[in-house]
Formats: sequence, structure tokens, C-alpha cells
Amino acid sequence: MEYFSGVLVFITLFLLNPVVSEATCGFKACPNTKLNMINVHLVPHSHDDVGWLKTVDQYYYGSQNSIQHAGVQYILDTVVEELLKDSKRRFIQVETFFFSKWYSEQTEAVQRAVQKLVSEGRLEFAGGAWSMNDEATVHYQSVIDQFKLGLKYLKDTFGDCGRPTVGWQIDPFGHSREMASIFAQMGYNGQFFARMDYLDKLQRLIDQEMEMIWQSSEYLKNSNIFTGMLYNHYSAPPGFCFDINCQDAPIIDGESYDNNVDKRVSDFIDYVKTMAESYRSTHIMVPMGDDFQYEDAGVNFKNMDKLIKYVNDRQLAGSQVNVFYSTPSCYLYELHQLHQTWPNKTEDFFPYSSDSHSYWTGYFTSRPTQKRFHRDGNHFFQTVKQLSVLANLTDTQHLENLESLSQAMGIMQHHDAVTGTEKQAVARDYDRMLFKAIVGAENNARDALRSLTNLTSGEFESCLELNISVCAFTQNTANNVVVTLVNPLAHSSTQYVRVPVKNEKYIVTDEKGREIPSEVIPVPWEVLALEHRSNGTQHELVFKASVEKIANFLIRVLPTPKNIEENHRDFLEEKVQNGDDELIVENSLVKLSFDTTTGGLKTIEMNGIAETIQQSFEIYKGFRGNNDEAKNRSSGAYVFRPDGDIEVLNNNKVELTFYNGTRVKEVHQHVNEWISQVIRIYDEVNHVEFEWLVGPIPVDDEVGKEIITRFSSNIASKGKFYTDSNGREMLERKRNQRENFDPNMSEGISGNYYPVTGQISLQDDVKRITLLNDRAQGGASLKDGELELMLHRRLLSDDAFGVGEALNETQYGTGLIARGKIYLILDAASEKPNHAERLLQHELDQHFWRFFSKSNSVPSVNKHMIPDFTAFPKSVELLSFEQYSNDQILIRVENLNTEGNVVSFNMQPLFESLNGDRIWETTLDGNMQLSDMKRFKFSQDGSGVIPSSVEYYYAPHNPMSSDSTMSAHEFVVTLIPMQIRTFIIQRK
Ligand SMILES: *[C@@H]1O[C@H](CO)[C@@H](O)[C@H](O)[C@H]1NC(C)=O
Ligand SMILES: *[C@@H]1O[C@H](CO)[C@@H](O)[C@H](O)[C@H]1NC(C)=O
Ligand SMILES: [Zn+2]
Repeated sequence: MEYFSGVLVFITLFLLNPVVSEATCGFKACPNTKLNMINVHLVPHSHDDVGWLKTVDQYYYGSQNSIQHAGVQYILDTVVEELLKDSKRRFIQVETFFFSKWYSEQTEAVQRAVQKLVSEGRLEFAGGAWSMNDEATVHYQSVIDQFKLGLKYLKDTFGDCGRPTVGWQIDPFGHSREMASIFAQMGYNGQFFARMDYLDKLQRLIDQEMEMIWQSSEYLKNSNIFTGMLYNHYSAPPGFCFDINCQDAPIIDGESYDNNVDKRVSDFIDYVKTMAESYRSTHIMVPMGDDFQYEDAGVNFKNMDKLIKYVNDRQLAGSQVNVFYSTPSCYLYELHQLHQTWPNKTEDFFPYSSDSHSYWTGYFTSRPTQKRFHRDGNHFFQTVKQLSVLANLTDTQHLENLESLSQAMGIMQHHDAVTGTEKQAVARDYDRMLFKAIVGAENNARDALRSLTNLTSGEFESCLELNISVCAFTQNTANNVVVTLVNPLAHSSTQYVRVPVKNEKYIVTDEKGREIPSEVIPVPWEVLALEHRSNGTQHELVFKASVEKIANFLIRVLPTPKNIEENHRDFLEEKVQNGDDELIVENSLVKLSFDTTTGGLKTIEMNGIAETIQQSFEIYKGFRGNNDEAKNRSSGAYVFRPDGDIEVLNNNKVELTFYNGTRVKEVHQHVNEWISQVIRIYDEVNHVEFEWLVGPIPVDDEVGKEIITRFSSNIASKGKFYTDSNGREMLERKRNQRENFDPNMSEGISGNYYPVTGQISLQDDVKRITLLNDRAQGGASLKDGELELMLHRRLLSDDAFGVGEALNETQYGTGLIARGKIYLILDAASEKPNHAERLLQHELDQHFWRFFSKSNSVPSVNKHMIPDFTAFPKSVELLSFEQYSNDQILIRVENLNTEGNVVSFNMQPLFESLNGDRIWETTLDGNMQLSDMKRFKFSQDGSGVIPSSVEYYYAPHNPMSSDSTMSAHEFVVTLIPMQIRTFIIQRK
């Protein structure tokens, strides 16, 4: 009943204001403020997780309310209705996934009303990406993609008024410098968040350093960005939660014995006065909202209306507090007008601890297979986007398939998805969603390859279980199987390719009919023994392939009699003799030695450097608290809290088997019943590969366990090590230290853990050791010379931060088994983060994607359809290459060089091969002309005089804007180290 009457009011209001007036969004729509008063910007918002305790759809529709009361559709319904009632009211919308779903279900009339609210700045978007992404475990490529997706939707739906100007990362568990850099590169004026180490916050409150200027990049010009820490989480002030989910009293202003206006106003004024002491200016921002609030928005707005009225009425009695509805962008606008300076920030906000026993460093590793799955998803997404451009797949079905994958990837970046901090049922729903989207996009890949090659009826199947050497396509035979390799990199690349096969003799030929050397190598028995694995193939065929963009290879079985015996000669299985105390594994670039007594790695020699490097697998045992107070908190989905000593696993004898192939040499190590590993070197490849298999982690002893691998050397690293920020720039870490404060090290192990998305390294004056990984993990250097990565965790208690379940993943009726890779490089020390490592990391992330078809001849590639990337300098990579709209292509190029060299190249050949008509440059997200960028510049403490007028950052260079009539020099692209530039090419 209530609901229906609401709808009537809504329609009436709409009829009164049917015309969308001229856009007055942006700062023109900001509220008036008062000089010499504390100006309180009330910011109504709702924090709507894109999945956590419930799935995204359960949150949207408001089902399963017994788990958590939350229904996003009703939030948007009632917020819009309430905003229409009073032009002073404001609301910010953050998660574009939810918004777009809701908007698409509205009538035209409602949509027009929303258009009006947006164009008048009453409904404003903040953040604006598909989800509010995590910042520790995400890869920058996926973050950029999900901002492109969200901001493009907002632009297509609302034009310029839909574009957010502030980041709103209120819930992620710590903050990365790369995220700040991405905001700066998208032209945002600033960002706000609510979680940092509790001691850092305490100090900043005292020192008035809650708001700062973050120097978000070591390399990029103009990368400073205003960053604000909220005062009281992202919640309304205590006692002022007017939501139906809260118990706080409403403002009672009528003639009533319960009238509480005086008391509430005094409490509020006291609160803002205390708060203002911790902030530098006469403006403060007070968020009014929390998780899934505003489901009955009338309750919230009615009480906020009264609060505003009565607090401001006090001004007649001399109160110096002025309160009004506002938005974070208006708040920041006011700060920008002020002539004052702000503190500097250069490093990041990891790790995050919320009290002395709660370091949120477990989620860096939680759900390792899901963390890998979304990286696979990204790899495939990039591959399919490129293929779709090359083959010009622009019909509706293909666009929808790609859009679905793009949305699924956006959702996966959410701070309760990729982090692994959701309930198990929700994790399964994410997997279902991503899997479905990948399967849909496989159709695009197939259709594209059918037109890009002359195999017009090829299957071009992807095999998603190649990590355990399973591919349905080669299950029965690999005879007359074509492997089509797609290289997402800009440059041609040479890589080793593996295909699951039976133990037979094969011949591999390339497109020119030349035989490519290959060999067959056994799959470790621990992988074959996986219960759920279909065991048709027990070997892998290995060959080396060079690919520009697309290349085909034909596999045939050699019809040799007794070919199995013959094949055995291809690899020499050297059972390690008990008598030898050393096993040497060596190729032209790398030499490894193993101690045959322990079965462990002993030394590595490569790049002219030799070093003792031992590797071990170790177990942290979970603290078994009862969670009723912080000091009893246990390890869980978020928190890593080991108890006592670590258990080293391979002190006993590790069984070794050595396969001495011509091109690949493998040592298979059996550590215990549930840990094994392959250590692998390929001929002419300058790194060592460690492929680990961990699980099911036994918990019969009722103790949760966290499994790490540790690499120990004698490198005198003096407490320093380096980790990447979201896979891009590197940050220096110092054991037991932070940039701005003295951390509480009562949890000395977990307090030294950092997120590792791409690489972790350490060095002394001479030598440097780097580990690259294949998914986000937690990592640390707890002793000089040592690096560790957490591979897997299985826990039996919840850590009492809301998820309400122990992180005890099972599959096939037992503990989850995970498999993955770590790549090790030993090299000479270098002053800067190493350029070769950065290139390798990108190549490993975006290695050849393998597609399989049946054919008895080698197909050829339609070369004329492959654009010309040859002008790209060696260090310049293709970060994105995708359809932006039907006749527009988006290209992002990134200079991976870290060593001070500016590079230039000419885009004209590529532009012409894409049949370009015009090309222009955009902000990083692809949706705004770079020439329109105008970002707030703030003054920093200690930087000299404060300028007398407000300052801005504009495009850091002259944005490209050229067309097909212009001469070649108008197409020159120059990139400073680590710079990314984004272009849209309009096709003829
Ligand atoms: C791509 O396909 C669209 C729709 O079929 C067509 O209009 C366009 O000309 C094609 N573009 C190129 C570059 O082939
Ligand atoms: C903040 O950074 C700026 C620019 O690097 C520098 O000039 C200034 O001295 C720094 N301020 C302090 C207090 O270190
Ligand atoms: Zn959240």
C-alpha cells in the first residue's frame, strides 16, 4: 500500500517538471557555502557490494533477505522518487553495474526523470566503474577495462553530466598507488576512501593529515592526486543513521514529549566541531549512508531535511555550523578554491590493519584458483577483443558476447570477488558467470579465426584445463590437430607451446610445411592422479613457436611401428642415483644444481651470476581464537594470523625425477602427499619455471593451514624488497617499516606481507633475485635474502569481519587443489626496477592463446587482415586493442621501459592498415578527449608560495588529433618510461 501511494506522488511530480532543463550539472550545481563557518557537506550514498554474502542478483532483487537485508532495485526506486521531491537533495551513485541494470528496467518516463536529475547535478556519479574494484589483488589492465566499461555506459546514457570526477573507493581493504595513478590518468580531481592502518589514521587525525596529495607515479608527469580519508568509516555520524536498517531515533520536531530537536542538533554540532579539528579547512564532508542503505529513502531524506533545517536555524543563535546536501565533487571543488597546502604521500596504503592483531593480508591469497581464473579471463578477453577487431565482428550477437565477458570481468574486480572474501555460494556464482561469459566469447574467437585463416570451418576450441594437461580436443588423438596460436602482444614472440597428448611420436609442421622440432614429455604422476582428471593424455608435446599475430601448426602422429619405444629415447628419464650427491640440470643459459640427499634446489647460475638458492614449502598454522575480541581473532578470508612457529615441509627427502629433454629439462619433485612441483628450464629461455601443485590441504588435526613457498639466498638485502603495484610500477618495501608512521608489529609475519600481482624481488649491490607469479598472492621478505609467496590457504574459523564462514574451499568432496607457476630470474643488481623483468611479466600474462581444430593440412593466415604493428619500438606494448563502437577502435599503448628512455614511433602505418579516417587521443579510460582534461591541482606542503589563483593539470602533452589527409609527422607518438596513451581511431 505504502509503495503504491509513493508511485503516485512520483508520477505527479514528474508531470510537473517534464522538461529536461539545460545541463547545470557539475560545479554550477554545487550548494552555496558560508564564509567563516564550518561548512558540512552531507553526502547521501549507499554502499552496494556487487556480491558478498549474497550473489549480485540476490542483492539486486532483494532476495535471500534472511542472509542480509538488501535490495538494490528498491534503493534506486526510492532514491529517485525522493530526489524529485526537492531540488536541494543529492545522492551519489557508485556501482555502474547495478545502476545500468536498474535503468534498463525503467519506463521512459522514469528514465527521463533520471536524465533530469543527472543533468541538474542532483544525482551524481562517483567512482563510476562497473564495480568498486579491489586495489590489492587486481591487475591494472582489468581495472582500466572496467572503468572504460562503466564510464562509457554513463557517457552513452547521460553525456558529459554522467562522467564522475572523483574516485569513491570507500571499502577496499587498503589502497594502491597504481589505483591513484589510474584516477589521475583518467582526469579525476581526487579520490576518497575509508580504510587505512588504524595507527596511520590515528596519527593523521592528530596531525591534520587526513587529506593529502598523493604522488601516484614515479614516472608520470602530473600524477599528483588529492586523496581524502573519511572520518568515521563511510557511515553517518553515530546516532544519525536514519535508515530503516538502523535503530537511531528520527528527528522528532512536533509537539511531543519526545521532541529531541535541541539534543540532536547539539550532538550533531559537537560531532562536526570535533571532526573539523582533524581537517585543515572550513569544509568537512560527512557521508550519510552505509551498506545497502536507502531502501526506503524517504525515511533517510525526511530526517536529513530536518537535521539540515534545525542545525542551520541555530545560526540565528550564533552557531558557526552550516550544513547542506552536497556531493564529494562539490566538497572537493570548495577545497580547491582555498589557498592552502596539503601533505605529501608517495608510497601506498598496504598492508591494512584494523587493530593490533588484524592484518588484512590473508585476502592477498584467499581463493587462489578463483584469483587465477579471473586472470585467465583477462587473458582470453584481451585475445578475443583483438581477434574481433581484426575480423571486424560487429554484428549484434558478437557484440553481446563480448559485452557479457567485459561485464563479467568488471564484476570480478569487485572488492569481495577477486579478493576471495565472499561466501562460498557467491564464489561459485562468480565462477558460473565468468565461465558462461568465456564460453560465449569463444564463439567470437572461432568466428574471427574462421575469417582470419583459410580454415573456414575450423573448430578453434579453447581448452580451459591446459594447466592440468587436459584438453578434450586431443583426448583421443592429436593426429591432424591444428594448433592456432594467437599472440596478444604487439611484437612477434617466440615461446614454447605445450599440448596434452598420448605417448606417441609426432611431427609438427608450420604454415610453410617445415617441420618444427618437438618432443614429448610425461606429465607428473601427481597430476595424473588427480581423481577428477580424465586420463586420456598423460604426456605433453612441446615445441617452440614464433608468432607475429596468428600462426598455425599441424600436429600429426608419425605412423612408426613401435613408436612408443622410440619415443622414449626422446627424453632421458634419469632416476637420480642415491650415490650422487648432486644433480646438475643445465642448458645454454641456466644451470641448476640439486642436493640429491634432500631433493632440494641448491644453486642457480644465469646471467653470469651464481647464487645459493634453496626453496622450501612451509606451513603457517592458523591461530585458533574464538573471535570474541580482537586479540583472539583467527586467520580467515581477510586476515592472516599465523600461530607460533612455521613448519618446514621438505626437510625430509623430496623424491626427484629428472627428464632430460633436448629443449626442455624438468625436475619433478614429490614433496609430500599433497605438495609436488615441476622445476623446468627451456632451451634459450632466461628464467626458471616452478609449477607447484598444492592440496588438498589436510585439516584432520583441526588446524587451519596456510602454505607458502620460500626462496632463500645469501643476498644481503638489508631489510628491503620490492613488490609491484597492481602489476605495473614497483614499490620499495622495508621490513617492519612504513612511510608515515610506526606500525604495530605484534603480528610480525602478517604485518610484513604485501600484495604481489606480478613480481617480488630483492637485491644487494651485486645480485638480484626476482619472482614473477601468475595470479595475485601475498608475499614477503621476512629475512634478508629470502622471498616467500603464499600459495594456498585452508582455514577452519571465520575471522569475524562479516563473511561468517571459514575459508575452507572444497571441490570433488575434498579440500581444493590449486596449481600455478612462479618464474625466477637471477640477475645483476640494477638501480631501477628492471626493464627485462617488466617485459617478461607482460609476455607471461599475455602468452599465446592456444586454439584447437581438426585438419589434415596446415591452414594459412589471411595476412592482409592483420594490421601493421611493426613500427612499435621494442619496449612499447599493446595494452588494449578493441572495438570501441561499430566504426571506432580503441588502442592503448604502454611503454614498459623503466630505464629513462623516451621512445617515439609513428602510428600512421597502423592507422592506415585499419583504414582510419581520424584519430584522437583520450584519457586512460577512452571516453573523454584528452584535450578536454582539466584536473584540480593542489599545492603541497613545503613546495613554496601558494599561487594566488586556482590551478589545474591539463593533458601532460599535446594530444594527438589527426586525420587521413595529414602528413606522417602528425602521427608520431612519444612515450616517456611507463607512460600509457589511449587513442580512438575512427574508421572510414
Ligand atoms: C565492418 O563491418 C561493418 C558491418 O558489416 C561494415 O559496415 C564495415 O565497413 C566493416 N569495416 C571494415 C573495416 O571492414
Ligand atoms: C612535497 O613534495 C613537493 C614536490 O616534490 C616538494 O617540493 C615538497 O618539499 C614536499 N613537501 C614536504 C613537506 O616534504
Ligand atoms: Zn564493500
